[in-house]
Amino acid sequence: MKFINPYLFIVTTFFLVSCTSQKEKLSLKDAYKNDFLIGTALNAGQIEAKNAKEDSLIKKEFNAITAENIMKSMYVHPQKDQYDFALSDKYVAYGEKNKMFIHGHTLIWHSQLAPWMEKIADSTEMKAFMKDHITTIVSKYKGRINSWDVVNEALNDDGTLRQSVFLKTLGEKYLIDAFKLAAKADPKVDLYYNDYNIEEPAKRAGAIALIKKIKAAGGKIDGVGIQGHWRLESPSIEEIEKSILEYSALGIKVAFTELDITVLPNPWDLKGADVNQKFEGNAKMNPYPEKLPDSIQTKLAERYASIFKLFLKHKDKISRITFWGVYDGQSWLNDWPIKGRTNYPLPFDKDLKHKPAYESILKLKKKEE
Ligand code: G3I
Repeated sequence: MKFINPYLFIVTTFFLVSCTSQKEKLSLKDAYKNDFLIGTALNAGQIEAKNAKEDSLIKKEFNAITAENIMKSMYVHPQKDQYDFALSDKYVAYGEKNKMFIHGHTLIWHSQLAPWMEKIADSTEMKAFMKDHITTIVSKYKGRINSWDVVNEALNDDGTLRQSVFLKTLGEKYLIDAFKLAAKADPKVDLYYNDYNIEEPAKRAGAIALIKKIKAAGGKIDGVGIQGHWRLESPSIEEIEKSILEYSALGIKVAFTELDITVLPNPWDLKGADVNQKFEGNAKMNPYPEKLPDSIQTKLAERYASIFKLFLKHKDKISRITFWGVYDGQSWLNDWPIKGRTNYPLPFDKDLKHKPAYESILKLKKKEE
């Protein structure tokens, strides 16, 4: 009978165990720790760590967080002379406890405004609102929140300024005022302009003009947030790369702040479809109610891999990549633009399991090793 050298047996076993545990230990944030931050958007339940499984996945995989909703003006400034910081305090505390990069979303946005803000009719009142709103919130978290979306979605898709209540009352100066007020309240925090589709040529030109205007007027703008609500086939890698280069050439950081990839058809994809017609309950618009076919899983994995390959190529220009949600089940894309669908836009599925997309993002780093 052949005897096994006990010493060799112990060493080999230890080595195999440590390799396996190392492999299990590898996470998105660890794999990309020398490249850029890997973040996620937290809903209220996750901020309060109500679900232990979600909480442990968040802490394992991500080193940056964004509050998906609770820091928006309707929640944090519900009445003119009343702020509600209960949840945002918990959000910042969660980030500090877990040593995460904490991003503030968002100070000035035309959507999810508190109803009283919609009624602001003149420039004097709007100036007073912006000064109070931005100064109060940014000062409260001075030195604790690491970056802010100062202004969110100020542009139309053609690159012109959106006719928001801010523009109507103050003109385009509101943009400069917002960044100056935020910098005055916390000179150290990174200040971002955040928007969707600003990787598309016309809107990108509008965003570049806006950023140049803010800088020329002495406003402090440290970065641009390209939201990244993308599709399997678009935008092209070339267009995304052109955007990284053109924004970076302004001397600012580039972040991808709300990354998700829808795998479902949308009304406007249907040639000649009347986008106002009701699509809810239309099986053609919700093709994978129970499970995503392997062929689409593969397409999603390949799409994420090509996008992250580009991010790695330009890691010197990119500060952060944030997924817009921890897992598929919580994604806003299950209910937009059509309510009650099942979408699969993120690297973790509804059961918090890794998807092929997760593996494909990690594999890019393993190849580098
Ligand atoms: O808070 C209410 C709750 O009381 C009520 O019971 C529930 C059911 O109606 O609605 C809750 O409010 C919802 C809110 O999310 C919080 O869950 C709103 O209806 C819903 O419209 C809102 O959607 C959010 C959306 O912004 C609002 O525009 C999405 O979760 C959020 O992912 C999405 O995020 C935005 C970014 O902030 C900016 N960029 C675009 C991105 C996608 O729209």
